[in-house]
Amino acid sequence: MRHAAFPRGITREDLVRWYRAGRKNSKAIFSIPVESAYYERPIALRNPIVFYEGHLPAFAVNTLIKLALQHGGIDEHFEVLFARGIDPDSVDAVKNPTDVWPRRSAVLEYGSQADAMIEDTLGYATIEDGSVPQLRGAEAAIAILEHEQMHQETLLYMFHNLPYSKKVKQPALNASTPQRITNRETGMVRIPRGIATLGGDEGVFGWDNEFPSLQVDVPEFLVDRHNVTNGEFMQFVQAGGYRDPSFWSEANWSWVTTEKVEHPHFWLKNERGWFWRGMFALIPLPEDTPVYVTLAEAEAYARWRNARVMSEAEYHRAAFGTPSGEERPFPWGDEPADPSRGNFGFANWDPVPVGSYPAGASAWGVHDLAGNGWEWTSTPFAGFPGFQPMASYPVYSSDFFDGEHYVLKGASPATSPEMIRRSFRNWFRGTYPYLYAKFRCVQS
Ligand SMILES: [Fe+2]
Repeated sequence: MRHAAFPRGITREDLVRWYRAGRKNSKAIFSIPVESAYYERPIALRNPIVFYEGHLPAFAVNTLIKLALQHGGIDEHFEVLFARGIDPDSVDAVKNPTDVWPRRSAVLEYGSQADAMIEDTLGYATIEDGSVPQLRGAEAAIAILEHEQMHQETLLYMFHNLPYSKKVKQPALNASTPQRITNRETGMVRIPRGIATLGGDEGVFGWDNEFPSLQVDVPEFLVDRHNVTNGEFMQFVQAGGYRDPSFWSEANWSWVTTEKVEHPHFWLKNERGWFWRGMFALIPLPEDTPVYVTLAEAEAYARWRNARVMSEAEYHRAAFGTPSGEERPFPWGDEPADPSRGNFGFANWDPVPVGSYPAGASAWGVHDLAGNGWEWTSTPFAGFPGFQPMASYPVYSSDFFDGEHYVLKGASPATSPEMIRRSFRNWFRGTYPYLYAKFRCVQS
């Protein structure tokens, strides 16, 4: 088995440590909502919090124990109920939560039984076997570890939307405050024409949408050195950007008018002015942190500035390309992600000022390409030519190849360092307002 975050090799002991650390972080995250919020849905069209606390262990059992190893599970009822994050498709379809969902003590008991089974399996079972599709390169074992981490992020942006009265303030899980940078270089950087390699190397773990790799010839372009900040985006809002259809595509304008969108979801305006809706407190809108927006808002801002949002291939050139033509595994070079490179791995609950991590800049001097918020790209989410659904989780990606979801790259404050790799692709609808997603502009 091989994994990009472990360039010197990965062992069973690493997997067990990773599993334990992931479960510990999940427990800390589940302690954010007050007990009475357990059956609530902080985002209307997502399942209630209880679902996720059962889903994490049930997914691990379903994927590694039952599907890959063909062993028996723990509790068939829970393993069906908590199988997949299928969210209700309308508010009316949501049933009374206690009709469907079990008591928390039963969910926690299931979780601890699953933990014992998974740790034993990672430590001693045949988790790697080239003749079983789910066990090739230990695919199922690594998939359950990354799945847990992806959901930690989903949970945090869900909890971001809980009222403050329903949250218990916690310190950041790996708190670190970046140095204050005073003389930031701004403006755009020229990236010359060159080749970008999208996707990962065969034999190294990745999700199905990361394979097979693909080389793209990218024409020269200019890219913002830093992400668009709240202060910059405010100029667009004050210039009437949300009232002028000429900046929006037809579909996005219909979203603005139907949902009555007047500013980013993370902003709040009251009689005292503009605020950022932080994880645990409202804070006066910070001018120099990246604005979190939908792709629709990013594209409107970019059009107002006579620019556009970068494509997935342009992101790769800006992040991993170098003047010599060599492509790096990480924006800063060969070393895997560590806390000096960016705002990720639960260093902070909220974004920090742009350009706070000079040690994470790319070869061209473009900052924060991994960390401080996912980077929106203008590229619709699709498989690369030759795409095959993965054996451990065949419905992971292909359900979303619908032209309505777009690729995001990089990492947010809630992304674990193990998932920071060149080939990793995230995706969401272009009008989904809840995620930790930022952007920058490019010009041809
Ligand atoms: Fe899931």
